[in-house]
Amino acid sequence: MLELRDVRAGYGRIEVLHGLTLAVPTGTVVAVLGPNGAGKTTALRAVAGTLPVTGGSVRLDGARIDGRRPSVIARRGLALVPEGRGVFSGLTVEDNLRIAHRSVSSEDAGPWDAWVGHIAEVFPRLGERLHQQAGSLSGGEQQMLALCRVLVGQPKVVLVDELSMGLAPLVVEQLFEQVAALRATGQTIVLVEQYLTHALRYADLCYILAKGRVAWCGEPTELSASGAAASFLAG
Ligand SMILES: Nc1ncnc2c1ncn2[C@@H]1O[C@H](COP(=O)(O)OP(=O)(O)OP(=O)(O)O)[C@@H](O)[C@H]1O
Ligand SMILES: [Mg+2]
Repeated sequence: MLELRDVRAGYGRIEVLHGLTLAVPTGTVVAVLGPNGAGKTTALRAVAGTLPVTGGSVRLDGARIDGRRPSVIARRGLALVPEGRGVFSGLTVEDNLRIAHRSVSSEDAGPWDAWVGHIAEVFPRLGERLHQQAGSLSGGEQQMLALCRVLVGQPKVVLVDELSMGLAPLVVEQLFEQVAALRATGQTIVLVEQYLTHALRYADLCYILAKGRVAWCGEPTELSASGAAASFLAG
């Protein structure tokens, strides 16, 4: 379980998160939605430790992780797939995965052959393209690769910022199918999204952020019926 309680964070003197409280139960997919500038990316960065938390607490399975260095937080089991894809475009898919595999302890990663076999099973599109240059993958495939790279450390929680950004609807559909497959393996996932449709279909729980606070929280089915929630999303 990942828990944020009254989290405050921002940039310099400008506070962006004004007391954010949210919980991500183990084994669920949680969608964090909200208009541009609501503080979604800021929240992910505060959790991952790339932005200091100036108030409140962040706990992973009960232990405080706020105030720790990003590398320590990552080792505790929290992985962030940042906005934009961050793969090495000049290297093959296999080499991208190999670098990720080498970057974590062998205890966490397990043997290379077993891991790459597992990835090829859960993400067959990547499995078929192991020898292709990452830069020549489609946008959706690159996003898949970015996601796989963080899975190697067997994180407890994966935070994904704008999985669907800039991708065609069909590709987005395929990516979310992969998210569903990951969820079926028990992976806990936080999806930050600007667009509703997929988040609602694939998430167990939704939070809507507005101006650095939680404006609404509930199950996707409740959201469709909530006029108030819809108006928050409209900004
Ligand atoms: N590096 C930065 N320096 C100063 N202000 C920033 C910085 N990054 C973000 N902000 C501000 O913090 C606020 C929240 O930004 P954030 O990126 O968290 O929003 P978001 O919800 O992820 O939006 P989007 O949907 O556009 O990605 C915005 O007002 C933004 O201008
Ligand atoms: Mg953002």
